[in-house]
Amino acid sequence: MHQSFIRYKNYRYAVYATMLSFVVIIAYVLDAPYQPVNGGTFLGYTLGTLGAFIIVFLMWLGVRKRSYYSSLGSVTGWLSAHIYLGLALFLIATLHSGFQFGWNIHTLTYVLMCLVIGSGCWGIYTYLKYPSLMAQFRNESSHTEVSENLRDLDQQALRLATSIDKQSHELVADAIRRTDIGASLWAQLSAKDGSKLMINSDKQSTDTANIVDNKEQHALIVTLAGKLAGSTNVDEITSIQELLEITGNRAALLKKLQKEKQLQSLLQIWLFVHLPLSFALLAALAIHITTVFFYW
Ligand code: HEM
Repeated sequence: MHQSFIRYKNYRYAVYATMLSFVVIIAYVLDAPYQPVNGGTFLGYTLGTLGAFIIVFLMWLGVRKRSYYSSLGSVTGWLSAHIYLGLALFLIATLHSGFQFGWNIHTLTYVLMCLVIGSGCWGIYTYLKYPSLMAQFRNESSHTEVSENLRDLDQQALRLATSIDKQSHELVADAIRRTDIGASLWAQLSAKDGSKLMINSDKQSTDTANIVDNKEQHALIVTLAGKLAGSTNVDEITSIQELLEITGNRAALLKKLQKEKQLQSLLQIWLFVHLPLSFALLAALAIHITTVFFYW
């Protein structure tokens, strides 16, 4: 899917955008205005109008994405056109400006547009790069598969712990309950393991001093290892060893899921830049056009 919007219909929109760019370059080279080249010549106005229409079209992608019943082309096609026309816009707006930059609303509009286009390129880069990376982290297995594996390990650990004693059951259940590999966006981005564990839970204590850090299930493994060292019953020793192995596998799987969540949030974060900047651009564009016509 991620490749498809790049190659959509045999690069249809890449071809259109390239043709448009050539026409614009030829018009710019052949243009011989009576005044120095700038946005106020006939060609300048033409390119400015074209650029403004393209920006409105690019903004419309947000509407099209959410119009689930729309028959106005597929979202993949829209995205493909969005990308290639967005890149052509850089050329169109630069030639529209005639390279006349200064400390004014016109240049601010241009800078905002460059930032939106830049963030769009960052988005494409993440879309193309990270899905394959995510698959590598999961050894090519799907996200649902990984989550199901985790649920299986949870069940196995609980069953084994119950067969040992009540205290072990409560310990393992608590470790599962307090597993936290990133609820907030920041925790996901920083891949922070905030898992906790209440030790001595058999004392029915709610004292928060009993809640310790359980990063990478370390506290649970240490507690189980302590229990193993103190055990003399052969059956119990075997069960604790199995439980330790499952806990180790669970910790490794959690690490994989955490890495995947980190990559997923990296995939989303660029849009938090792209979208607000594109609205700022729209506002600047409206002021830019209003001031131009006001002074005309
Ligand atoms: C001035 C130029 C641009 C404007 C105003 C603009 C604006 C927007 C808007 C409003 C959306 C919809 C976001 C949403 O509602 O979720 C969007 C999405 C997107 N834009 Fe742009 N964009 C521009 C240029 C570009 C460029 C040059 C690229 C790539 C090279 C790009 C890549 C993307 C991608 C990949 C999405 C889709 C995100 C998704 O659906 O997951 N944009 N853009």
